[in-house]
Amino acid sequence: MEPVKVGLLGLGTVGGGTMNVLHRNAAEISRRAGREIRVVHAAARDLDPTGIDGLESVQITEDAFEVVENPEVDIVVELIGGYSPARELVLKAIENGKHVVTANKALIATHGNEIFQAAQRKGVTVAFEAAVAGGIPIIKALREGLAANHIEWIAGIINGTGNFILTEMRDKGREFADVLKEAQALGYAEADPTFDVEGIDAAHKLTILASLAFGIPLQFDRCYTEGIGRIEPQDVIYAEELGYRIKHLGVTRRTGSGVELRVHPTLIPERRLIANVDGVMNAVLVQGDAVGPTLYYGAGAGSLPTASAVVADVIDVTRTLTTDPENRVPHLAFQPDELSDLPVLEVEQVVTAYYLRLTVEDKPGVLARITGILGDAGISIEAIKQKEPREGETQVPLVMLTHSVEEGRMNEAIAAIEAMETVTAPVARIRVEHLG
Ligand code: HSE
Repeated sequence: MEPVKVGLLGLGTVGGGTMNVLHRNAAEISRRAGREIRVVHAAARDLDPTGIDGLESVQITEDAFEVVENPEVDIVVELIGGYSPARELVLKAIENGKHVVTANKALIATHGNEIFQAAQRKGVTVAFEAAVAGGIPIIKALREGLAANHIEWIAGIINGTGNFILTEMRDKGREFADVLKEAQALGYAEADPTFDVEGIDAAHKLTILASLAFGIPLQFDRCYTEGIGRIEPQDVIYAEELGYRIKHLGVTRRTGSGVELRVHPTLIPERRLIANVDGVMNAVLVQGDAVGPTLYYGAGAGSLPTASAVVADVIDVTRTLTTDPENRVPHLAFQPDELSDLPVLEVEQVVTAYYLRLTVEDKPGVLARITGILGDAGISIEAIKQKEPREGETQVPLVMLTHSVEEGRMNEAIAAIEAMETVTAPVARIRVEHLG
């Protein structure tokens, strides 16, 4: 049978890895796909071919549009990243009747609805396994492996850079900026690393997971996003003393009134497996009504792990080239005309437990007043501890865990606490998920 011809857009970290995986596992990949998979055309700017196998037989161009216009190419693999020109390239490839494989989470989360509609009209597939959690086949698990389930919630560590930073801060007491530099040098961080530390990258990925889990359109602009920049070393220590780890989690949950979609630092009981996922590793915990909890773990970034997902998609697309487009697995797991209009909730409607750290004057009556405010708001306290004053300070940290409460109500209570004269700094608050 004729080889399947691939056009590759981007020969950087993931593009180079994709070439190498296709080259090193060529024979086995052909046995799985039923045909040889051959990269015939690739686009790259400032190409450094060092360490990339198999480039000798590939036509190289600087103009990515040449690849999507090449009539010989069956599958376009988009590994450029970013919004533009990735969107224009993918739409042009679809218009030209080519299947697309992409690792671009920003593109799928923000333009996916438009892209999938275009692909549907044209009868081509857009595959995006590498867009979420690097090498972990979480898209396939949600779309196919768990298709029997009513998915209840998903909680994931889905940004390797952020997890690497938090782990190094906790284990080695390193400074935030110093660890970020190392993550950039290792090729984990996004081109704009604020995407990693402010949770935007995780929000892109969570948006995609929520659509696959609940059959809702992609709604990145509705995702609540909070980064890790405000976590203080003392919170990491106090959390540990309470039996928790701080992780940057993406959480999406189906409730009676809508879907929670949120990325933020989170305290997780340290006995949970996911609390022990460290370094650049990712993990996604999925709760289905039939299967119960399932956990997916692996490398969430890096050249070969991401290439593993890209090449798996190329193999998948190759296998379905001759199938009827109407009978392929739907892009977003549910049939396109069966998407639900379940609303994404405002963060004020989200119900979680909280870790609070207050800075207060050590005087009689202060604690009673604070617990009074919380009690009046219907917020129940699970644990409370007054810490030693920090060196040279007269105020003391007061650390507490609460039971679950609607966020809007917690906001009001915090505002009332911060208005007290004896509370001398803004309240540090971190949401708590027990993931039971
Ligand atoms: N910057 C991303 C991360 C790369 O750190 O997880 C993989 O999407």
